[in-house]
Amino acid sequence: MKKLVNILRTEHHLDNSGYKALLESDDHEIITYLHEQAHEVAIEMFGKGIFVRGLVELTNVCRNDCYYCGIRKSNSNVKRYILSTEQVLHSCQQGYNLGFRTFVLQGGELPQEKASWLVDLVSEIRQRWSDCAITLSLGEWPWEVYERLRQAGADRYLLRHESHNAEHYSKLHPTKMSLANRLQCLMWLKELGYQVGTGIMVGSPWQSLNNIVEDIEFIENFEPEMIGLGPFVPQHDTPLGNHPAGSADLTCKLYSIFRLMFPNALIPSTTALNSISPNGRILGIMAGANVVMPNLSPNEYRANYALYDGKAITNAEAAEGIKQLEAQLATIGYHINWSRGDYNQC
Ligand code: 5AD
Repeated sequence: MKKLVNILRTEHHLDNSGYKALLESDDHEIITYLHEQAHEVAIEMFGKGIFVRGLVELTNVCRNDCYYCGIRKSNSNVKRYILSTEQVLHSCQQGYNLGFRTFVLQGGELPQEKASWLVDLVSEIRQRWSDCAITLSLGEWPWEVYERLRQAGADRYLLRHESHNAEHYSKLHPTKMSLANRLQCLMWLKELGYQVGTGIMVGSPWQSLNNIVEDIEFIENFEPEMIGLGPFVPQHDTPLGNHPAGSADLTCKLYSIFRLMFPNALIPSTTALNSISPNGRILGIMAGANVVMPNLSPNEYRANYALYDGKAITNAEAAEGIKQLEAQLATIGYHINWSRGDYNQC
């Protein structure tokens, strides 16, 4: 088994049975070895600096109805909001003053007629902070909208594929959504020159280890710049609210596998991991993750952006929150890397 890890480190690839064997293994020694190798590679590539991205949760309005997500259209218990342009710019300004050089605008899928507002918002951010990267995480849009957003100055786009198995995908999403369209969107984003992130929820309902192997294969071929993985966490108002949460251990295993596969990928230690595991953020970094995404959204809206139950609310918009993050990283000899942190820029 250690040999498999060594092969993955040197050749950045295993065959399906190799991935499956690693995913199945509960041998503590092997798992520790996997994490150590991945951690070593991350340090080789990035040193002990962790990139930070300032997350602005733009809106919880969503035209979509994903069965796992707390802000799905059919959830009538959500108090809906769309931040105003001024609120978004204010959040970015606060983030900029603290040192953030990447802003991530994340939100539900707004109605089509809001596209122009999004384009104008991106233009405004681009003009005000020309030295910052703009990442979008706004779901599925037509090519034309992705193109306008890119021209307005967006650099990166996060769109998890969620599952590369069409049958599994259809169990997590309503029929009007399709894996084919999700993959089409990902291809468009790449063609438009975005740095693209994709990924899955680990332990989503009905996900088998074979499904995860399919996801690994897809990601291997797609070669995203960013890989976003967090455990599935149930949200009580959703159709999948009674399913158990995914495993932190499996999530960390996947961080390590992807680190060995793509040494220079940007892999966040996600809020979802930190929400189900007390020291999740650090465990993720020790497994090979190299990014964290503190929240810059205005405090009064945070509780309404509840994709899942028990979402960790970190307070990084305040200087105090950054100090805490720095202190937490310092416990493992790490620090914040305040640069834009583009792909390949190590
Ligand atoms: N548990 C974990 N992650 C979730 N997401 C949405 N709902 C949940 C949930 N219940 C993730 C999806 C989406 C990202 C923005 O949040 O993977 O792509």
